Amino acid sequence: MAKENDSFKKIISHAKEYGYVFPSSEIYDGLSAVYDYGQNGALLKKNIREFWWKAMVQMHDNIVGIDAAIFMHPTTWKASGHVDAFNDPLIDNKDSKKRYRADVLIEDYAAKIEAKIDKEATKAAKRFGAAFNKEQFLATNPRVLGYQEKIDTILKRMGQSLEKEDLADVKALIEELGIACPESGSRNWTEVKQFNLMFGTKLGATTETATDLFLRPETAQGIFVNYLNVQKTGRMKLPFGIAQTGKAFRNEIVARQFIFRMREFEQMEMQFFIPPNTQKKWYDYWKEQRLNWHLALGIPKENYRFHDHEKLAHYADAACDIEFKFPFGFKELEGIHSRTDFDLANHEKFAGKKIKYFDPEQNESYTPYVLETSIGLDRMFLAVFSHALKEETLEGGATRTVLQLPSALAPVKAAVLPLVKKDGLPELAQKIRETLQWDMQVMYDEKDAVGRRYRRQDALGTPFCITVDHQSLEDNTVTLRERDSMQQQRVAIAQLPQLLEEQTAMKYLLQKL
Ligand code: GAP
Repeated sequence: MAKENDSFKKIISHAKEYGYVFPSSEIYDGLSAVYDYGQNGALLKKNIREFWWKAMVQMHDNIVGIDAAIFMHPTTWKASGHVDAFNDPLIDNKDSKKRYRADVLIEDYAAKIEAKIDKEATKAAKRFGAAFNKEQFLATNPRVLGYQEKIDTILKRMGQSLEKEDLADVKALIEELGIACPESGSRNWTEVKQFNLMFGTKLGATTETATDLFLRPETAQGIFVNYLNVQKTGRMKLPFGIAQTGKAFRNEIVARQFIFRMREFEQMEMQFFIPPNTQKKWYDYWKEQRLNWHLALGIPKENYRFHDHEKLAHYADAACDIEFKFPFGFKELEGIHSRTDFDLANHEKFAGKKIKYFDPEQNESYTPYVLETSIGLDRMFLAVFSHALKEETLEGGATRTVLQLPSALAPVKAAVLPLVKKDGLPELAQKIRETLQWDMQVMYDEKDAVGRRYRRQDALGTPFCITVDHQSLEDNTVTLRERDSMQQQRVAIAQLPQLLEEQTAMKYLLQKL
């Protein structure tokens, strides 16, 4: 655990030191759970967003993208169920005065049992050596099975109690498990209460005329209220999807773990409109599609797993998460939800306007069902960034920090480095940078010895360094160094645009889908 915390701290400090993520308004000591993206973070975030957008909109001729406003008519949130049901169960510790999400306290307890399973597996792997079969061990070892049963029982009971809104039982479960306040160790708890997560604000100049609004807690509703506009103007036929990326806001009770859980964050959501009773097929289809999107980045499969929801959100008839192995354990990265006709039917009711689809094949009108994929951009950023950060020991014992970002996502694709700051090398290097900047994000760096500049670019995640030396002036060649292998090859300057395009363009990532 301590080791995990250390590696997470390193990730946070690396993100700051290399211009990826800063605490918001840091000169005023920051604002809790709000972060700003720096010069490199903004580019990485943009590239992830682009990978998602292109995979959805550009690669599907039946998915279109929109950009709805953050402010929406307040009745939207009544119709969507967020006014009445977008709550988290919270509990206060009477001694420390700290507030927690009751379900998170229980989930953290279950995660501790899961850590014991991991420990058993690690011990057994050592004992059995090469003959160790982890899958078989986890499926048969009595101690592991006991732990797993305990986890399942706890999470099932919590899910059922939350489903029934039986908050007294959630508190009883916390007490029965002997869960203590992580801050004070006290077990002196208040009752569990529901807390609405939407941020309220006002629209209008005077107090008398101002309208109460909410900052959207999900981007999805901007899609639902535009369903008819898009379907009609785009002459879309079912099944079709509407995609959108944008900010969402939630007054999270416990916002923590860096950019994992924030109060202002960005979502990338796609609502796929389908005929009723086809949701099972599309649920399976989008589960597979979305996992493939993640795997295309080259992060090994064992870092992902599906988790079916015990407690369904107020709009869903089936739901699962794609969980990622973050430095603090497996946690939700993306949600796939079968939302039935809940949203469109409710908007129809609250708006008093017909929202139906005429199906020419069935010769009937109906309210489409919806399959949703929803991923947090900041969470995806954290997944990619935390997996990419490596400390390597090199031959000879020296160490280097390298950010092994997939090259199509890396903020800067190549750094152009003159070997020395004289003899016309900076001029040639600048010329190369100017040629390449038409096609990709490149940078010029002339400060410090070239070895130090390589290390700096490794830590920044730049996939290629182009070194201009005296030979370059004679034969128009440069050294091209690759970040992960550190291998260098001599290439013609004229070849650089094509070579770099083949290694870093988003197109090649999309081809893996
Ligand atoms: N429209 C469905 C919806 O919003 P959700 O499971 O509440 O579903 C979807 O959120 C995704 O948004 C999550 O899987 C997560 O990646 C991201 N997300 C949710 N709350 C977040 C927060 N407070 N900070 C960062 N990302 C968040």
